[in-house]
Amino acid sequence: MGNSITIISKSVRQTIELGNLIGKNLRPGTVISLAGNLGAGKTHLIKGIAQGLDVPDYQDVTSPTFTLMNEYEGRLMIYHIDAWRLTGSGQLEAVGFDELCSGPAIVLVEWADRTSSIVDSYDPIHVVIEHVDENTRKIIISDLPENLVQALATA
Ligand SMILES: Nc1ncnc2c1ncn2[C@@H]1O[C@H](COP(=O)(O)OP(=O)(O)O)[C@@H](O)[C@H]1O
Ligand SMILES: [Mg+2]
Repeated sequence: MGNSITIISKSVRQTIELGNLIGKNLRPGTVISLAGNLGAGKTHLIKGIAQGLDVPDYQDVTSPTFTLMNEYEGRLMIYHIDAWRLTGSGQLEAVGFDELCSGPAIVLVEWADRTSSIVDSYDPIHVVIEHVDENTRKIIISDLPENLVQALATA
């Protein structure tokens, strides 16, 4: 694992604020893998990331339900995939996953651990969220680029 940072979030607001800080500092072409059980807070962190990327209606971000992927337009295009709903790597191919990850967009994959090595082959930032108690989450972020290590050092 590359550079790793652990943050304790004590509220939804704090998790969104962390996402916002990450989003503000993302470079084009970044892939983020998010792991953690149902209700861990992956989608709320993504709300904040969308905010940081200047998505006007970031508060409406939810996991894709009827589609394989949500798209948001901010300072960059954002593709949001929830691999929980995928039945195999064929569906990732169906949304053009390789092309998405090879361009300037930001690609966010919840439950990326379910896609085994496919997401990992794009050298993603890894986020793991653990449930501590009702309002507390342990957020471990690794393989961070240097500019994000600097930005998060102040978080
Ligand atoms: N510190 C926190 N950070 C994020 N979510 C929290 C926190 N504390 C409580 N929650 C709650 O946990 C749930 C997280 O849901 P969600 O972001 O959809 O998780 P996931 O996408 O991992 O399934 C929400 O109901 C939210 O209100
Ligand atoms: Mg979710």
